[in-house]
Amino acid sequence: MLHRAIATKQRPRGWQDYVVSQEWESFTNDDHAVWDLLFARQVDLLGTRVVTPFLDGIDLLRLSHPGVPDLEGLNAILEPRTGWRTVAVTGLVPDEIFFAMLSERVFPVGNFIRTREELDYLEEPDCFHDMFGHIPMLAHHDYADMTKHIGELGSAAIAAGEGHRAARLYWHSVEFGLARELGELKILGAGLASSFGEAHFSLESDEVERLPFSVEKAVNTPYKHDAFQPRYLVSETLEKTIAEVLALTPEELLSL
Ligand SMILES: [Fe+2]
Repeated sequence: MLHRAIATKQRPRGWQDYVVSQEWESFTNDDHAVWDLLFARQVDLLGTRVVTPFLDGIDLLRLSHPGVPDLEGLNAILEPRTGWRTVAVTGLVPDEIFFAMLSERVFPVGNFIRTREELDYLEEPDCFHDMFGHIPMLAHHDYADMTKHIGELGSAAIAAGEGHRAARLYWHSVEFGLARELGELKILGAGLASSFGEAHFSLESDEVERLPFSVEKAVNTPYKHDAFQPRYLVSETLEKTIAEVLALTPEELLSL
């Protein structure tokens, strides 16, 4: 018995071990009202300042339906479309687990939502950030492929002791990237699309740097976890960035 317990404890944890039930029924009326408030406020704030596939994804996935989305219903639309599905987790997962999930087209979604008292400040990503910010773009076929590829690159980089390279690539594209669309500067990253304060800041502030995106630039540009970014990387077009990331091999990532 004792040996068995020790063996279980020492078994390396796979990403499946981090998955919990969403327990959608346990969201309270106030939780649903907070989602509705955040959703309405953010859609209004973004307008057309976000790349078009993001707005298409909101519609396709019916995210405007009132209340916290139920992951089962979301997956019923998302999975047949791009092969991606969401799973519930209790909070941030370790980088190696996160990249392993992405490499299998699995996106972790926090099983909680912020309270009314902390609408604009979050200790860690909640289901509004995860679902509103990330999931719309995963309905876009090429972007969905790119995100899976970043998962594979991330797993390879961590195995080589160079996880920060993939983390920076992810950060400057999927999380805090900007992109031009018909020449106009738009929000691409989920961290910006889901942020009330940083969405406009990233597009309009005179106090930040906006530099052209390349995988090499992304991999060599540090970022901030706990404050607005001092610099953003701007994709010339979304398509160009997707093609550049998809062409990147793990060996190239380690040599940039
Ligand atoms: Fe995120």
